[in-house]
Amino acid sequence: MNERRQGVPMAPRTSLGLGGPARSYICASESAHIVDALEDARRKGESVFILGGGSNVIVADAGFDGLVLEIATRGVQISVDGSRARVVVAAGEPWDELVATTVQRDLAGLECLSGIPGRCGATPIQNVGAYGCEVGETLVAVTAWDRELRREVVVPAGDCELSYRSSRFKRSPDRFAILAVEFELRVGGPPTCRYPELQRAVAGEPAPSLTQVRETVLTLRRRKSMVIDPADENRRSAGSFFTNPVVDGPCADRVAAAALASGFIERADQMPRYPATGGVKLAAGWLIEAAGMARGYGEGPFGLSSKHALAIVHRGGGTTAQLVEFARSVRDRVFDRFGVELAVEPVFVGMPALE
Ligand code: EPU
Repeated sequence: MNERRQGVPMAPRTSLGLGGPARSYICASESAHIVDALEDARRKGESVFILGGGSNVIVADAGFDGLVLEIATRGVQISVDGSRARVVVAAGEPWDELVATTVQRDLAGLECLSGIPGRCGATPIQNVGAYGCEVGETLVAVTAWDRELRREVVVPAGDCELSYRSSRFKRSPDRFAILAVEFELRVGGPPTCRYPELQRAVAGEPAPSLTQVRETVLTLRRRKSMVIDPADENRRSAGSFFTNPVVDGPCADRVAAAALASGFIERADQMPRYPATGGVKLAAGWLIEAAGMARGYGEGPFGLSSKHALAIVHRGGGTTAQLVEFARSVRDRVFDRFGVELAVEPVFVGMPALE
């Protein structure tokens, strides 16, 4: 069993660099240690927060009054069978290392998800997506410790209830601890290249390789400060702070009309809008800018990323309370301007999400 420590500061373990101490902290390097720690916490009646890479969490200034269990298990198994490859990865494996390995092995399916921070076990929880792909497209099953049934379970992808940035695991955060994730990838490609920005970037390459698509995605993400880089002034963030809202058609038309009337756009078709289940998906970053908050907006320790309005950046010396206040002001301004409510994307620890 890995060592249990008391009063461990969370700020250095989050990409935002914010948050008070965990009352108890265990870093588990074996699946059996994860289960032991959960059973031990159960006996003690202790609340548990399961931490991966810390790139999508907002921890309260007061910290977490319970056990923070960091998942640091490692291991990747790849078995090829004809044109298909099964990849089974331990939850603590860094996500982008897995993507790099699969691209090197000429396995297609994860290349568009290059450069995303965090660990593999977190990816099915919010059905991570970028550049036209979602984890759910290649996911086969999730192996988890079911804290309610107190046994290991294998949840097939079809039972994970995956949707845009959500899943059964996200909706029941206290039930499952993900131990391993299984993907099915295509041997020898071709890469997926359906996101218009990505297609434009590889234009001139009639048949881009998996490596070219990965490198292009990394370049696009770096331009938006969406690859964590110690030299980047926008490095301290939790990626997209809000999800892209899905609204009905008339609401989308009203937003476009309001942006036209304010002079933010000259033609209604300049507003990004994408067909989505249940309506039209709008771009939250665009809404923030259209509401009058340009990239880099905000004084003091928190502001919008200078490269992408959807990321809130901690410039240093701030508190979680100040972050929440800034985020609320951004959300309220978008609502006042367009009547569209933005939902927060990262997970809040030790405090309720923005109400
Ligand atoms: N846009 C703006 N201003 C901005 C940023 C974007 O007007 O500051 C516009 C863009 O011009 C584009 C549209 O908004 O027309 C969409 O922008 P982008 O392609 O950058 O993607 P996004 O919808 O803002 C989503 C994911 C990202 C993912 C990218 C790329 C969500 C919440 N975010 O962002 O995921 O990398 O697509 O596929 O769905 C994350 O979840 O943390 C994350 C970074």
